[in-house]
Amino acid sequence: MSEVSRFWNDQADGYGRSVDSDWVERSHHRVTADLLNRELEDGRILCVGGPWVAADLGLDLTVLDISVGMLRLYARAGMTPILGDGRQPPLADSSFDHVVVPLVLHHITGRGAASARENVRRAVRAAARLLEPGGRLWIKEIVVPAPIYALELFLAPLTRAALAAKKIPLVIFHTDRFLRRALSEAGLTDVRSIVSDSPDERWYDRIAPVIGLPRLRVPRLLVPVRYRLIVGERA
Ligand SMILES: C[S@@+](CC[C@H](N)C(=O)[O-])C[C@H]1O[C@@H](n2cnc3c(N)ncnc32)[C@H](O)[C@@H]1O
Repeated sequence: MSEVSRFWNDQADGYGRSVDSDWVERSHHRVTADLLNRELEDGRILCVGGPWVAADLGLDLTVLDISVGMLRLYARAGMTPILGDGRQPPLADSSFDHVVVPLVLHHITGRGAASARENVRRAVRAAARLLEPGGRLWIKEIVVPAPIYALELFLAPLTRAALAAKKIPLVIFHTDRFLRRALSEAGLTDVRSIVSDSPDERWYDRIAPVIGLPRLRVPRLLVPVRYRLIVGERA
């Protein structure tokens, strides 16, 4: 079993509880869910790495995930679970109308900054192949400004070592520009980025910035990230 699968199996129960809070309703999760629940009303939907928080469970949702523990959570909610890696999905090309990748790409990293960027491109290419012509890929992501991205890439070996001490795999947040370019390079058209920051989030909301360290809570102000929904269409 890979380090990443083991980590997410260990997180499964706690993760389920962490998205079940009042803050979720006032956060980017609500903004994204309102949009996706409305836009994806029809068609077969594949979620890579779990559904989006507050997904409409009446939709036709298949979920691909690398963790058996997380898949159990999703199957309990009525979704069709498939075990696999988003970089090499065990699914036929052109078999979905929508592919949604919610809060997953920053976890698909590898050993460092270069492999993180390459793995994201691979996952995006793989997701694009699963779409029917006219189908859409939706990436829900946390993005950072370019100077913070440069620092993050430079510090990746240190971050990796610090997280590894707590048995947490490396996490890299990308820029909106890098993600949009990954969709374009995967052959998707009409690529655009939709702001999904919540007007109701408050600077003093206490959030847990590192999954795997649930007791570490900091005010939202100290976490300089933004939320985006990046979408592209298969020609
Ligand atoms: C932060 S959770 C996101 C869960 C849910 N999508 C949400 O929005 O709350 C990341 C998820 O991605 C999954 N994951 C991580 N790496 C993956 C990979 N290479 N392929 C498929 N799933 C992966 C994890 O098992 C976990 O379920």
